[in-house]
Amino acid sequence: MNVAVLGTGLMGYPMAERLLRAGHRVIAFNRTVKKATPLKDLGAAVTKSPKEAIEHSQCIILMLANAEAIQTALFSSKIPLKNKTIIQMGTISPEESRKFHKKIIKQGGQYLECPVLGSRKEAREGTLILMVGSTLKQFKQWRGLLRCFGPAPKWVGTVGKAAALKLALNQMIASMISAFALSLGFVKRQGVKVDDFMGILRKSVLYAPTFDKKLPQMLKADYMNPNFSTRNMLKDVNLFLKEAKSKRLAIPALQGIRGILIKTIGKGFSDDDYCSIFETISPRK
Ligand SMILES: NC(=O)c1ccc[n+]([C@@H]2O[C@H](COP(=O)([O-])OP(=O)(O)OC[C@H]3O[C@@H](n4cnc5c(N)ncnc54)[C@H](OP(=O)(O)O)[C@@H]3O)[C@@H](O)[C@H]2O)c1
Repeated sequence: MNVAVLGTGLMGYPMAERLLRAGHRVIAFNRTVKKATPLKDLGAAVTKSPKEAIEHSQCIILMLANAEAIQTALFSSKIPLKNKTIIQMGTISPEESRKFHKKIIKQGGQYLECPVLGSRKEAREGTLILMVGSTLKQFKQWRGLLRCFGPAPKWVGTVGKAAALKLALNQMIASMISAFALSLGFVKRQGVKVDDFMGILRKSVLYAPTFDKKLPQMLKADYMNPNFSTRNMLKDVNLFLKEAKSKRLAIPALQGIRGILIKTIGKGFSDDDYCSIFETISPRK
């Protein structure tokens, strides 16, 4: 089967590699074409337009930054989507996902949402956590392909539910890293050894593995080679805030974190890893 991968950024690239290694014929498109070009060495076809990639594929995997990018890639050149299956794997809001679902169905295509938890390492190793919003029939039909990316795709209901679940989890990423960054900055300024802080934290119920993953970067102030960019973290916080507000949830804590992310981006860390928020929470000078 020909599978198009639109978006070969931090996540899309290793996901396209996994499809190729599983024996699929991959047609890759990336707006900045040179980022997709090395996939040719693994047997992929690389196109200069999304249109070409879609035309020659039965299934189209989207791993694009946001809804705007999806809108551009899928709909700007009026490519017919009849009989195509679109699997949307980036992080967008439930509302945006349902909107794309409607548009694609109208054209006679199929749509599944399958946002993922995990980052570049998990994408490379095929151990992403996959949440699927679709009909049960679609889930059963596409589960095999999705196993290229993660061992146990989980069906969570109709379109919108998986997108909501993913945003709920990403809100926690933003909240947990800012809580950790604040305590790390605090102990450092109080003269408490970081090893003592981490030693106690690791033994406690407060511990999350993400703290140890991010700690070296935060201590070295080295946020290049990101797993997940500050820009995309802000995008997800914005999406969550909009949805949460409409559901009458109290959001001031997350609004504060949004402000921290905006400041961090203002300091030039937009494309760096989101744990660069440490530079705003505990500025060096
Ligand atoms: N990184 C993670 O750990 C992670 C984990 C789970 C989910 N996600 C989600 O997965 C999606 C992709 O994440 P990523 O980390 O791979 O992001 P990324 O490296 O920034 O890649 C984003 C992709 O979208 C493309 N793009 C952006 N704006 C576009 C536009 N207007 N038109 C066409 N293409 C456009 C980029 O093209 P260019 O290369 O030309 O900019 C690139 O291919 C995001 O929704 C993110 O929130 C990320």
